[in-house]
Amino acid sequence: MAVLCVNVDHVATLREARKIDEPDPVGAAIICELAGARGITIHLREDRRHIQERDLEVLRKVVKTKLNLEMAATKEMVRIALKYKPDMATLVPERRQEVTTEGGLDVVRYQRRIKGVVSTLQSAGIPVSLFIIPRKDQVLASKKVGATFIEIHTGAYANARTEKAIERELKSIVEMAKYARELGLRVNAGHGLNYRNVSPIASIPEIEDLNIGHSIISYSVFVGIERAVREMIALLR
Ligand code: PXP
Repeated sequence: MAVLCVNVDHVATLREARKIDEPDPVGAAIICELAGARGITIHLREDRRHIQERDLEVLRKVVKTKLNLEMAATKEMVRIALKYKPDMATLVPERRQEVTTEGGLDVVRYQRRIKGVVSTLQSAGIPVSLFIIPRKDQVLASKKVGATFIEIHTGAYANARTEKAIERELKSIVEMAKYARELGLRVNAGHGLNYRNVSPIASIPEIEDLNIGHSIISYSVFVGIERAVREMIALLR
């Protein structure tokens, strides 16, 4: 069964709107864990628009489940990851202009650079996941660069509007999850998942972690974080 890891960046986004100290993503992470989340995910972006290095430092100390650091494959981020040693690092593409992570990592194109980063992090005991779109060449390249996990980008599935398009996107996620497992990769998924579209993804047997942020934090504004997390976990079951 897939388990829930909550992305708490969105709490930091609200804090940074005022540049003060509340709401604190650390407090949110603790409540998520108490409500049954099996991991906490944060993205320390190069422009520090939401999560700050201080958040990573404190979360490293207080998270009891699993801390997954999403990061760009840059020298600065590798240095930070090696300093704080998250339980997992997920390499993501990053563009300053984007509102959220838009595409998947192009592992095929940047194979050499990604291989170097994967090897540095994994040699330091940090398992690496690569955030990729569900396409065979990207899955194969992820295997070739030595990653432990892939995270399948579910954005195209989440954004599909017709039944036919949803079926098509779901099919490629199912097929690529299976293909990745056959290659010996472990499989996570995330992006754009919400209370209405999560069930078909959660029932794919190869998928281990689902990283979900925006929908849970949005719903929590009305019902509180604890209930928002519990309701999502109930759907995964
Ligand atoms: N996984 C990755 C790699 C992401 O970059 C994000 C967005 O920060 C998520 C999962 C969560 O996406 P959402 O906020 O749409 O649930």
